Amino acid sequence: MPERKGSDHAGTPPEADTPAHVAIIMDGNGRWAEARGLPRLAGHRAGTENIRSVAQSAAKAGVRYLTLFAFSTENWSRPDSEVSGLLEILGGVIGGETEQMSEAGVRLNHIGRTDRLPKPLQEAIEAAVALTQDNQGLVLSVAFDYGGRDEILHAVKRIVSDGLKPDQLDESTLERYLYTDGIPDPDLIVRTGGEMRLSNFLLWQAAYSEHYVTDVRWPDFDEGEFLKALDVYRTRKRRFGGLSPSGAR
Ligand code: IPE
Ligand code: IPE
Ligand code: MG
Repeated sequence: MPERKGSDHAGTPPEADTPAHVAIIMDGNGRWAEARGLPRLAGHRAGTENIRSVAQSAAKAGVRYLTLFAFSTENWSRPDSEVSGLLEILGGVIGGETEQMSEAGVRLNHIGRTDRLPKPLQEAIEAAVALTQDNQGLVLSVAFDYGGRDEILHAVKRIVSDGLKPDQLDESTLERYLYTDGIPDPDLIVRTGGEMRLSNFLLWQAAYSEHYVTDVRWPDFDEGEFLKALDVYRTRKRRFGGLSPSGAR
């Protein structure tokens, strides 16, 4: 057991230009399973197995924040059997992984709604977040029942009910009402499974994120693939609407 939580990747300084925050749309589980003649839920299980190793790769590479899109506000429209399987898998991960993740210094966080989740799952999420809140390693946010539009609407409703006046509202105030309060915007958004869309993920926060899409399906997205995404990120010139330092382009 490491003496200081989060110390397992201390001492390996990140390469220059390592993104502080990587967010991943973990897509392609169903197709991964179908290609193997397996039920879709087998793909979700294999995808879930992959979370631990990608979280370790991220921490090792010096990434500080990792956000994983696990279930969208639109995913409730899937067949009941798939939805209940996914809820069960999430419960299993929390039960089976939290302690080990905590020992590795990971701070767990949930973004999205909890009110539509079964009560025991809500409690398990709360407990995992509480247990790991003082950890100093990777901040791992799981987006479950998350939608970017829902998040913005939820923020606006709370702003209205708090009675804020228009001149009290600016971007950073609004950000404090988002589920991602305290977490910097993602530098890099990775999508596995090949689709070139956000599917309602981090709509506000993605304003200046770099995008990386790979055809590799989530269960096959290993450390090598993760490092490839970081390498591509390092070749990007982020301008945020200004000019690059050389002024050339
Ligand atoms: C992503 O995999 C996981 C969830 C959306 C819950 P999919 O289930 O969307 O996999 P594909 O896109 O059908 O292959
Ligand atoms: C996005 O994948 C949501 C998650 C990965 C949790 P979807 O499979 O739901 O996205 P669409 O339907 O292809 O846009
Ligand atoms: Mg999909």
